[in-house]
Amino acid sequence: MSDDWLSRTRASYDTDASGYAEKVDGLLEGNPYLRASLALFAELVAEAGGGPVADVGCGPGYVTRRLNDLGVDAFGIDLSPEMIAIARRDHPDLRFEVGTMTDLDLPDHSVAGLLAFWSVIHIPDHAVPGVFAQFRRVLRPGGPLLVGFHVGDRTRHRTEGYTGRPISVDSHHRRPAQVARWLREAGFAIEAELLLRPDDDVPGAILLARPHP
Ligand SMILES: C[S@@+](CC[C@H](N)C(=O)[O-])C[C@H]1O[C@@H](n2cnc3c(N)ncnc32)[C@H](O)[C@@H]1O
Repeated sequence: MSDDWLSRTRASYDTDASGYAEKVDGLLEGNPYLRASLALFAELVAEAGGGPVADVGCGPGYVTRRLNDLGVDAFGIDLSPEMIAIARRDHPDLRFEVGTMTDLDLPDHSVAGLLAFWSVIHIPDHAVPGVFAQFRRVLRPGGPLLVGFHVGDRTRHRTEGYTGRPISVDSHHRRPAQVARWLREAGFAIEAELLLRPDDDVPGAILLARPHP
């Protein structure tokens, strides 16, 4: 199967990395629900014994930063080298690597927690089971998984980045029940679901899951 979508996503975020970083600057400060989700996640990671945590599709690294500020040993992975360059520039004390969630360069059971905030939105349906199998593979038993995504039934194709430059990237909006089904099929148990801004055109959702024992 062609992975043209992966190359297009990488190129688009490379083109738009600075625009995206500017757009999300200060986002957590204005969003108590995201902050609370990260605080809960940090607590669950500590409760499960702590250890390295992967922020997959970390973008400019502000969530990785927040997790570290909460006492989590988090590092970031992102498909876009330009995004990783910004994350490294803005958070030189943290670890960021270029990589893809479709083929994580991490040993089995090597992370104590995994977070993917609005990054699986760029994975087409046919590739989601493989990505969740990767998450399952690298997570330690008992390690929490936090997945955030846009809610809906459509795929949005964007051709212009936040800086006005041409891009070509798809964002897949999904129902939480569908994402939960894929997670269960990959060997996760769902522990919690948070629906954000349910009255908006594009609500958000966060699922908390853990590998089945
Ligand atoms: C909408 S941004 C979210 C960034 C950050 N997690 C946040 O919440 O602001 C999506 C990010 O996912 C990354 N991404 C997309 N596909 C990916 C993949 N296959 N593997 C790793 N990162 C990916 C993009 O490069 C981009 O930085």
